[in-house]
Amino acid sequence: MTERIGFYQDLVVSAEEAAKHVNHGDRVGISGFTGAGYPKALPAAIAEKAKAAHEKGEEFKIDLFSGASTAPDCDGVLAEAEAIRFRTPYNSDPVLRGQFNDGTALYQDLHLSHSGQQVEEGFYGDFQVAIIEVVRITEDGNIIPSSAVGNNLEYIDAADKIILEVNEWQSLNLEGMHDIYKIQKLPNRLPIPITQCDDRIGTPYIELPKEKVVAVVKTNAPDRNAPFKEPDEVSEKIAANFIEFLEGEVAAGRLDYDKFIMQSGVGNVPNAVMAGLLDSKFENIQAYTEVIQDGMLNLIDAGKMTVASATSFALSPEYADKMNEQADFYNKHIILRPQQVSNHPEVIRRVGLISSNGMIEADIYGNINSTNVGGSRIMNGTGGSGDYTRNGYITTFVSPSVAKGGAISAIVPFVSHTDHTEHDTMVIITEYGVADLRGLAPCERVERIIAIAHPDYRPLLEEYYERAQQNKFLHTPHDLETAFEFQINFAKTGDMRGK
Ligand code: COA
Repeated sequence: MTERIGFYQDLVVSAEEAAKHVNHGDRVGISGFTGAGYPKALPAAIAEKAKAAHEKGEEFKIDLFSGASTAPDCDGVLAEAEAIRFRTPYNSDPVLRGQFNDGTALYQDLHLSHSGQQVEEGFYGDFQVAIIEVVRITEDGNIIPSSAVGNNLEYIDAADKIILEVNEWQSLNLEGMHDIYKIQKLPNRLPIPITQCDDRIGTPYIELPKEKVVAVVKTNAPDRNAPFKEPDEVSEKIAANFIEFLEGEVAAGRLDYDKFIMQSGVGNVPNAVMAGLLDSKFENIQAYTEVIQDGMLNLIDAGKMTVASATSFALSPEYADKMNEQADFYNKHIILRPQQVSNHPEVIRRVGLISSNGMIEADIYGNINSTNVGGSRIMNGTGGSGDYTRNGYITTFVSPSVAKGGAISAIVPFVSHTDHTEHDTMVIITEYGVADLRGLAPCERVERIIAIAHPDYRPLLEEYYERAQQNKFLHTPHDLETAFEFQINFAKTGDMRGK
């Protein structure tokens, strides 16, 4: 362990001691993105501090900023201790989600490419502490980040004090995987010089303002991602439809079997799509994406994927162990970048990727709700889906046609919340097929979208569209009296069909 700490040996303290630097009302920026690379010890120590304060009748809450979601031993423990006042830019922790939805904590759901810049530009005010997990500290006091880069640069810059967690569980062979490039300040910044997914443009370490480091804590704890669900019949059909769509693009001369560039969102369905690509005709696949999921390691192992550029891992426990054992091999195929770079609109537009993200619901014109069930109940967040959907070459949404045993349709007359507008959505895919919306006016899309809805819901959607056409304005016909009937039925009866 000593060789991992080197330069800051004198600053090594317990997590409890380090937590003394975190106070009520602080803005705290942490490493971590989708269950990887988050601090493992400080969150519990801060949670204990909060509990002790609450027992004495004192207030203790922090504003917590990260790359994206973390895990039960980070967001979870802090939420259970009611220690979070405000959270951004992404969350998937169920306890914290409950607090957003019952109004006891606040959440700003934000495009992941925007959050770092907004911190840098001072939109949130001062940051008191940055807590960053690292693989090791270099001989000259810089750091090798661990399994996520996220917004580390921005929090290190913004914070008055830096606490480092050196996690022995993380493989030393992650060193060399990171490509740390600092985007220039506005205005008139230069282009980011990435034209190929495997371009490396920065350093393998993060340079630290050494005078700000106040404590170093040793840890030995795994990243904690939930395992993916095994692909079921529905997700296998969705994957097959996705690949058929890609093959159609090859036949149309818009794509090649060699070297197509993908982005894949979080979730079980996108992971199943990657499993489908394993048996496809596509070769030398590349990813310019934000997270490395199990399916990508399988593609790399099979020699189907040559490079995956992202900002973090989102691996199941089994695949996280595999990464640790074989990091020297994956090092040749994976690049971990700051999230301002992995999700940057400029680079996404330049490389020309095909995006694929999950959704809560789509409407008959192609607007997408990725985040709020019934318009009000936050699920996770928009994450990077907006970054890739607004800027991708071809943008797809993949989803089962129904949720909760058929009580919820993923295709509705009108989305109850909008994350992606009809202007950005090109293709929607369910187990019933592909709705290719490119080049179509809103009313031309309706038939295609209803055709991929679950058969139980198709007549209801057709009835709605007929009713909507009674409207005298026919560009995007709606019947506002009944546009939310599906969601209202669900709220009243627990079934969108109104049973
Ligand atoms: N209403 C209520 N719940 C719904 C729903 C809807 N319309 N659609 C899906 N769900 C629920 C499912 O029932 C499931 O809940 P369960 O775990 O309790 O069964 C859960 O959402 C996950 O759904 P699943 O079908 O397994 O798909 P998924 O894992 O692909 O997740 C999203 C779907 C929308 C929740 C997920 O993709 C997401 O959070 N997306 C937004 C962020 C994003 O796109 N990030 C990627 C950017 S790179």
